[in-house]
Amino acid sequence: DLVPERAAFKPQGKWKRRLPKVIIIGIKKGGTRALLNFLKAHPQVTVSGKEVHFFDRFYERGLEWYRRAMPYSYENQLTVEKTPSYFVTPQVPKLIYRMSQDVKFLLVVRDPVARAISDHAQSLQKGKTTPFEEKAMLDPRKCSVDESWSAIGIGLYSVHLTRWLKYFPLDQFLFVSGKNLVANPGEEMGKVQDFLHISRTLTEKSFVFNETKGFPCLRTDENGEVRCLGKTKGRPHNPVDPRVRACLAEFYRPYNEQFYNMTGINFHWEE
Ligand code: A3P
Repeated sequence: DLVPERAAFKPQGKWKRRLPKVIIIGIKKGGTRALLNFLKAHPQVTVSGKEVHFFDRFYERGLEWYRRAMPYSYENQLTVEKTPSYFVTPQVPKLIYRMSQDVKFLLVVRDPVARAISDHAQSLQKGKTTPFEEKAMLDPRKCSVDESWSAIGIGLYSVHLTRWLKYFPLDQFLFVSGKNLVANPGEEMGKVQDFLHISRTLTEKSFVFNETKGFPCLRTDENGEVRCLGKTKGRPHNPVDPRVRACLAEFYRPYNEQFYNMTGINFHWEE
C-alpha cells in the first residue's frame, strides 16, 4: 500500500467547474473556516473560498450560476463549499435535495453556549455594543432566555437537524467536533477524510500548534512554512456572567440531549 501522505495525486477527466458533492452547512462559529481551510490543503479537494449563499439567498439565479461559482476541479476531486447559514434556513434541505440526493454534509458543532458567545464577539467587533448578558436574557432575575435572539436560536441544533433529516439520511452527515478540531486536528481530519473516502493525507504531522494564536495552524510544506487562520478566527471573548452562562446551559440541556440522541454522539457540552 502507498503511504497516503506520499500517494501522488493523478488528475483524471476534464478540468472544469462542477457542482459541490460536499457542503459544510454549519454551524456558524463552530470552526467552519478552519475545516474548509484544512480541506483545501488536500489534493483530492477543491473549495470555494467565499460563502456562496446559493440556497438561502441566490436560489433564483439557477444551478448554472451556482456551478459557475465553484472552483475548477478534476473528475477525481471533490468540490466543497461552505455556507453556515444553510443549517438554520428552513427551505435549504429541500432545495439541496432537488439538486442532488447524494450530497454529503459536514457540520462543525460546538457547545451552543460557547457558540453564542463567539457569535456575539463577532458582532461586537462589527460595531454592536449591547453586552452579551443583555441580549441573551429577557429577565436575568428569572433566568428567562431570549429565544428570539438569533445567536440563541442557531444553538437549537436538534430543531434544525430535524428539518434536514426529513430529506437526507443520517449517514450523509458527519458531525465534526469543533473542540477536537482545535485540540486534535489530525484526528478530527482523519474522520473527515474517511467519511469523504479520500486519502488520509492530513495527519497529526500536518498541524503545528501556534502558542501565540492559541490554535493549530497548517504546515504547508516540508520546509516548515505554517499557515494560520486570519485575525477574525480565534477572537478574545469578554467574560460572561457565570449566572447567565448557567441559565443558558440549563436552557440548552434538553435540546443538546435530543441532538446527542439523534446523532448517536455524546458531545458532553454540559461538563
Ligand atoms: P472564536 O473566534 O470565537 O474563537 P467559524 O469559522 O465557523 O466562524 O468559527 C470560528 C471559530 O473557529 C473560532 O471561534 C475558533 O474558536 C474556531 N477555530 C477552530 N479551529 C481554529 C483554528 N485552527 N484557528 C482559528 N480558529 C479556529
